Amino acid sequence: MVNKVVPLALLALLCICAAPATGRQLLDADTLEAEAHGVDGKYKNDKPLIGILTQACHFCPGRSYVAAGFVKWIEAAGGRAVPIRFYASDNELHRLFKSVNGIIFPGGLTDIWLDNPYVIAARKLWTWAREANDAGDVFPIWGTCLGFQLLHVLEANVSFTELLIRTDSVGHASTLDLTEAAPSSALFGGISPHLARKVADPALNITMENHYFGLPPEHYRRWGVLGEAFTVVSTTRDRVGVEYISTAEHRRYPFFATQWHPEKPPYEFGMKAIPHSLDAVLVSQHLANVFVDTARRSGHEPESHEEELVMLIYNTKPYFTLKDSVMDRSYDGPDMTYFFDSKDDAPDNGLRGAEPRGSTSFAGRVYRGQEAPHLTAWA
Ligand SMILES: *[C@@H]1O[C@H](CO)[C@@H](O)[C@H](O)[C@H]1NC(C)=O
Ligand SMILES: *[C@@H]1O[C@H](CO)[C@@H](O)[C@H](O)[C@H]1NC(C)=O
Repeated sequence: MVNKVVPLALLALLCICAAPATGRQLLDADTLEAEAHGVDGKYKNDKPLIGILTQACHFCPGRSYVAAGFVKWIEAAGGRAVPIRFYASDNELHRLFKSVNGIIFPGGLTDIWLDNPYVIAARKLWTWAREANDAGDVFPIWGTCLGFQLLHVLEANVSFTELLIRTDSVGHASTLDLTEAAPSSALFGGISPHLARKVADPALNITMENHYFGLPPEHYRRWGVLGEAFTVVSTTRDRVGVEYISTAEHRRYPFFATQWHPEKPPYEFGMKAIPHSLDAVLVSQHLANVFVDTARRSGHEPESHEEELVMLIYNTKPYFTLKDSVMDRSYDGPDMTYFFDSKDDAPDNGLRGAEPRGSTSFAGRVYRGQEAPHLTAWA
């Protein structure tokens, strides 16, 4: 169904330090405590570990990858990243789940068929997270872009081919039309009114959209389970006016979803459309703080300091992929990327339709200009 290879440069996330130029204090512990939404736990740790689910890549020096922007985004908010291989054993998945304080389902080009191993691994983590939250063990999940779509696929247990529609929104800096729910949402409730106005301003376009598919608001009615589960925090229109949900948060769990890319403005520069203004960076930082601060309420921890050191992403050297053209252009095209496991060593349970048609295999060079018809939902 999809048709283009996407040269995307996704991006990265945010950093934390700046206070907003205007308006009230961006975030402080009391504000967060008061405005935390659907989360009544107190702080349980002050050094949150955030798991990031890796995705398959096929023309790259590894079995799977993580775009470094997501790592930096959580680091800037006081978190540290732990890669979670989507092909990890159940025991390993569960061990990592019990060790980390939140999980990111990142953007990317993975097919999210219900029977894809990636989706099956995500469903396990998501199910444990629900159970944990139900038991008062706060555990946030963040989904960006593909991760937004994945959170909806998991909730509805319906194929993405039914949930999503085509949108003209690749490489599109745009706006968020915040809903009436936004002021009381976890994600935007604590943002300065000044920034809340700016995200909606088409003269600024400070939010980055980069996806072929979107979820129209009416699908929250067609699949009632979605409407019951999620609050629409913002919608956005694509280049030709098609409206889709751009920000959502779960009503019952600290699960947050953006179809857009808050992690890109501070950390990804390979794609021309990415906004880098102070305002774009402040919005990015705000959302990282909301997410990582929720993770401070989680009581999970590694079994030992030694295990903590071993699981951290710092054990892996990032590649400067933008410069070295290491990645297949049909993937995200992050500026910097972590790769995990040699293909030969990793279990062979990768994605459906793994090889783009007409591609030539190569080690470490960019794959250009081919159609990749199996790529259906992503980014
Ligand atoms: C999802 O739906 C399929 C049928 O399409 C069903 O077999 C499966 O058990 C469902 N999974 C969950 C977690 O509900
Ligand atoms: C912002 O995006 C909208 C919608 O695509 C477009 O109409 C508008 O011209 C853009 N604004 C700027 C300043 O580029």
